[in-house]
Amino acid sequence: MSRQKIVAGNWKMNKSLQEGKTLVQMILNQVNDFDEVTKIIIPPFTYLDSINSQLSKKENFFLGAQNCHTNSGGAFTGEISANMLSSVGCKFVLVGHSERRHYFNEKDGDFVLKIKEALKNNIQPIFCIGETIHERKTDNHFKVITEQLTNVIKEFSIDDFAKFILAYEPVWAIGTGETATAQQAQEMHAFIRGVVADIYDSNSANNVAILYGGSCNAQNAQELFKCKDVDGGLIGGASLNADDFCKIIFSF
Ligand code: PGA
Repeated sequence: MSRQKIVAGNWKMNKSLQEGKTLVQMILNQVNDFDEVTKIIIPPFTYLDSINSQLSKKENFFLGAQNCHTNSGGAFTGEISANMLSSVGCKFVLVGHSERRHYFNEKDGDFVLKIKEALKNNIQPIFCIGETIHERKTDNHFKVITEQLTNVIKEFSIDDFAKFILAYEPVWAIGTGETATAQQAQEMHAFIRGVVADIYDSNSANNVAILYGGSCNAQNAQELFKCKDVDGGLIGGASLNADDFCKIIFSF
């Protein structure tokens, strides 16, 4: 089975509803019938329903959310559950993003609960892992990635893991303009497959899509996507511009 090619655009806390709808329309105009790549649009919560209507009949375009809560519902003022996301058409959710780890102090145990909620609601997790610059400079990056990955995926069966997408996002590359080289990305993606093979089996390792994220843009996407173990990108800044995002989609 060949792995999916995926480009996901994480808008983070950017755009008004009207700007977001215009952006989606411009993307659809350029790539509407290009179905070789799975495209995932990940807007802020408040625009999900509206953007779902724009995407719902489009070939290979899907809606994703930036976060979900660890619980299914109840008295959690201000929070959003995975079943709410499902009710507005979300098929994917980001879990473990470095901004959630660093600014909101989310830990491995939270990610396990969030992913369980997502899977219960037929939402695929895009589970993000990545080392800091200090961890790379002190040569701890393989150890950190092994821990981040193992602590979470060991809680899931092989069948549940088959629904995961992984994203390797070195923290030093996110929003900094400094991208991992294709060689660094390939090295880490291959390493991640090795960790997955140790926990499950080689089939699981070969079938999981692993996205690269961190200053991936219209200029460097092609080189990164050429790497054997890089299956696409999780795009932040460059997903806010229709031309750039579409160029990335056409970069395989
Ligand atoms: P960036 O963000 O492309 O702006 O570096 C990537 C991400 O945070 O997913």
